[in-house]
Amino acid sequence: MMEKINAVITGVGGYVPDYVLTNEELSRMVDTTDDWIMTRIGVKERRILHEEGLGTSYMARKAAKQLMQRTGANPDDIDAVVVCSTTPDYHFPSTASILCDKLGLKNAFAFDFQAACCGFLYGMEVVASLVASGRHKKVILVGADKMSSMVDYTDRATCPIFGDGAAAVMVEATTEDYGIMDSILRTDGKGLPFLHMKAGGSVCTPSYFTVDHKMHYIYQEGRTVFKYAVSNMSEITAKIAEKNGLTKDNINWVIPHQANMRIIDAVASRLEVPMEKVMVNIQRYGNTSAGTLPLCLWDYEKKLKKGDNLIFTAFGAGFTYGAVYVKWGYDGNTK
Ligand code: UT7
Repeated sequence: MMEKINAVITGVGGYVPDYVLTNEELSRMVDTTDDWIMTRIGVKERRILHEEGLGTSYMARKAAKQLMQRTGANPDDIDAVVVCSTTPDYHFPSTASILCDKLGLKNAFAFDFQAACCGFLYGMEVVASLVASGRHKKVILVGADKMSSMVDYTDRATCPIFGDGAAAVMVEATTEDYGIMDSILRTDGKGLPFLHMKAGGSVCTPSYFTVDHKMHYIYQEGRTVFKYAVSNMSEITAKIAEKNGLTKDNINWVIPHQANMRIIDAVASRLEVPMEKVMVNIQRYGNTSAGTLPLCLWDYEKKLKKGDNLIFTAFGAGFTYGAVYVKWGYDGNTK
């Protein structure tokens, strides 16, 4: 009988831009305060990719280069590159194709896909399937977003939330019992009116009108999104935990999307997991969309141990949401 192939994460790389946009600076741009942002969202500062002419692929490239170095990967051995982003360099070609060139990959196929803030979460399932097929042994999965490219810095309801960043993981085939073990993923298309960008796509093409009317920015009805995020993320993490025999006693880490500290608290309390077991970096990076989950891994890698049970969860535009169960494959402090 053929042995079951699992897809295991074997390394992490990340990158955030140098420029730090603090709440103090924001409060000089719009009518807000550090106190409001900290109590309602939980973001202290976020990174912004300021330099003209640099897009998402720049950050993705930095993250992937670090990943290749840390894992000692030979570029010729990479079979595929998957980039999850809502802020690609161009409508086309894909950011993944640019990355392939910059990394000197000769034997890979590469593509982007977009699932808003659930990009990396869905991406783990996509890449796990590529690897489990037996046809792809080494795949780079990137979550990267330059949210500042579509944030209206005169809108106080959205501009404190978002930041720029990218991180990447190597996913490899193994017959050991580690890796991306299970997922419950959902899409509720009824979310469209509450979180979207009005123009720039094929329904409403760019024009002077769309620019004058600020239709190329993030539009969000925060309160509605908040409610859906809390209930769906809490329920789906509880569901994946139950399905896999995971409880507060054997869950080692919860990795939630970093959109709002109050949402993170709600998910943790539903699972009855103490905050020491929840990865949080929202205070430093804000919501980097597809970047949040792998940036958490990047920050916490040293604390991870082989065999740790990790539950990832996210919620984003669409609405997209879900949870993924990962059995971690290496001791982080050895890398
Ligand atoms: O990653 C994709 C998924 N996105 C999310 O998960 C985001 C979910 N939503 C949220 O995180 C929250 O809804 C927000 C952070 C966006 C907003 O927080 P909220 O507690 O829901 O505030 P609100 O929109 O209900 O606004 C409360 C008040 C309003 O004033 P009034 O109408 O009560 O007088 C706003 O005008 O707070 C005001 N407000 C602000 N005040 C100071 C809104 N933004 C600000 C601000 N500073 N930056």
